[in-house]
Amino acid sequence: MKVVAIASYKGGVGKTTLTANIGAAIARLGRRVLLIDLDPQANLTFSFYQPEVWRTELAENRRTVKAWFESWRPETLPPPLAGYVTTPPVAATAVAERGGTLDLLASHLSLGDIEMNLAAHLGGAQAHRSTRHYFDVYQRLATGLASPGMSDYDLVLIDCPPHFGVMTRAAIAACDHVLIPARPDNFSALGIEHLLGKLRRYVWEYNRVADLQSGVHPAAKRLEPRVLGVVLMMVQYYRGQPTSFLRPHIHQAASLGVPLFESMVRLSTRSFAGSAETELPAVLSPDVPGDVVGELVDVVEEFLRRLAADARATA
Ligand SMILES: Nc1ncnc2c1ncn2[C@@H]1O[C@H](COP(=O)(O)OP(=O)(O)OP(=O)(O)O)[C@@H](O)[C@H]1O
Ligand SMILES: [Mg+2]
Repeated sequence: MKVVAIASYKGGVGKTTLTANIGAAIARLGRRVLLIDLDPQANLTFSFYQPEVWRTELAENRRTVKAWFESWRPETLPPPLAGYVTTPPVAATAVAERGGTLDLLASHLSLGDIEMNLAAHLGGAQAHRSTRHYFDVYQRLATGLASPGMSDYDLVLIDCPPHFGVMTRAAIAACDHVLIPARPDNFSALGIEHLLGKLRRYVWEYNRVADLQSGVHPAAKRLEPRVLGVVLMMVQYYRGQPTSFLRPHIHQAASLGVPLFESMVRLSTRSFAGSAETELPAVLSPDVPGDVVGELVDVVEEFLRRLAADARATA
């Protein structure tokens, strides 16, 4: 099982879109995929469930990541994550032909309350200074992903909120790789640099606490998340090429010391606007133009190639 966190420091750059489309495309290839929505905006969840169905079937039935976090009691193992996972019916049918599955650990609009409680449990904003509850909080999701049934998944994709708070940190502690979507503009380059800085600092801090607490928490492994790359989303095209004024931004993104995906996804509002209604990511939708689907498929193929190359490099 590979775990990939999709993160950015900026909002609206395509994290959720990328999560849904990569997950759906890989499930359609016949793999078992779990998507985790860690964002209280719950956009990933609402791209697979109508709000009313989410309320009655997921929120009220406690089938959300919020309910999972709430059911945890200190000093005990968290309950198995599998009991909180759902299968979005429309998307699941669309990926089933080659035996693939697409499951979702849904978010909740009040997930922000959990994040605040977790931050309070850590000891406030200077949380990392107090190490007592550090792993209770940051390792919980990783422990959930090690619970029974989870190893059946080939791939877990975690859609993070657009900041580096407790949920994103928990996702980083649970992942093997980080994927960073970005829009080709100046601000995104700044956001990527900031995210990489936060990531480095957090990994350093986590590993320091892991060393300090190795007697108390022998299971706390050192983190070594690897940045799989930056995917440019919402790229404006002209005559089959990214428009010339975007090129400096693309090169800037390429110079940040993290790999830039060769494949990118064009700006096409029409292609992505309908997914909440159809409950199907664009890559599975018959209404989305072939060139956009082709770009998404290229991103997915490159994603799989990069994952495989990394697995070989670290074997
Ligand atoms: N290539 C694209 N062309 C046009 N619109 C797009 C494209 N990709 C995504 N969008 C749209 O842009 C909006 C933002 O995308 P998305 O929700 O994936 O970003 P995000 O990074 O998850 O945002 P947030 O930080 O708020 O979670 C959505 O309405 C989505 O449908
Ligand atoms: Mg999002």
